[in-house]
Amino acid sequence: MKILITGGNGNLAGALVKKLESSYQLQALAHHDLDITVQEEVVKKISTFKPHFVINTAAITDVDGCENQIKKALDVNGLGPNYLAKACRENDSILVHFSTEMIFDGLKTTPYVETDCPNPLLAYGLTKYIGEQNIKKTGCKYTILRTSWLFGGGVPKFVNNFISKANQAHSIKVVKNQTGSPTYIYDIAAAIDLYLQEPKLGIYHLANSGEASRLDMAQFIKKELSLDCELVPVFYQDLGIKTYRPAHAALDSLYKKKHPFLQLRPWQEALREYLGLTE
Ligand SMILES: NC(=O)c1ccc[n+]([C@@H]2O[C@H](COP(=O)([O-])OP(=O)(O)OC[C@H]3O[C@@H](n4cnc5c(N)ncnc54)[C@H](OP(=O)(O)O)[C@@H]3O)[C@@H](O)[C@H]2O)c1
Repeated sequence: MKILITGGNGNLAGALVKKLESSYQLQALAHHDLDITVQEEVVKKISTFKPHFVINTAAITDVDGCENQIKKALDVNGLGPNYLAKACRENDSILVHFSTEMIFDGLKTTPYVETDCPNPLLAYGLTKYIGEQNIKKTGCKYTILRTSWLFGGGVPKFVNNFISKANQAHSIKVVKNQTGSPTYIYDIAAAIDLYLQEPKLGIYHLANSGEASRLDMAQFIKKELSLDCELVPVFYQDLGIKTYRPAHAALDSLYKKKHPFLQLRPWQEALREYLGLTE
């Protein structure tokens, strides 16, 4: 089975390649190999390789960056998926596209499920939502997987940043007024492996189970790693973050019982594994 992965140098793509490369004929194309905003390139790569699946991880994921460069965000997050979807339709490939919890406004106090109505309040979420709509309009075969708060892979994001700060500073400010579903990239990769054996079209929420604030995550890491630091709960606004952040952005799926690939373990178990704490 042939799989083409876009955004091949990205964090999630790295986990997908590691998990899938021994079982599938994989072509992971980094940004310099395939720019998804150039339609001719998209058509050429897909019509030449003729993959059974195209997994699109390419995106502008910098939330504040999207606010400042909305045209670029729209091109990559909105238009690129449209080009991919059209090429998939022409070549009878299934498009597996990653989307985000940020398509929701964060005002709901329980986790968002697939039937909740999107209402993005930031450029990142808006452009990702446009990407979803653009895929649906083409009539291609697609699976849109919304996920949230990815960790793993050693990138300097929340988990790794927190650990390095904890090793240097005595007291650390951590945001308490934002919740999400922390999700391990290798759990997503394992879910995709399962999905490929029995693909399900449509829109699904794919995240580790449970929800957490950044403060909950920090407290968990502090305890598990016995870190000697003081946590100071703050609002994200106190850290100089000017753009709005959804207060509640956790995800859950209505289809977990029906589709095993959506059954991800609790985030705490996944994070323990990432921290190297499992036997
Ligand atoms: N990270 C999260 O917490 C999170 C949460 C929810 C959903 N998601 C979604 O999950 C997916 C993967 O996220 P990630 O964290 O792995 O992202 P990432 O590490 O930022 O990787 C995205 C990749 O896309 C590439 N890219 C940017 N513009 C491109 C273009 N025009 N054509 C082709 N490639 C391009 C980037 O390459 P360059 O850097 O070389 O430009 C980068 O390698 C994204 O769709 C994201 O929206 C992520």
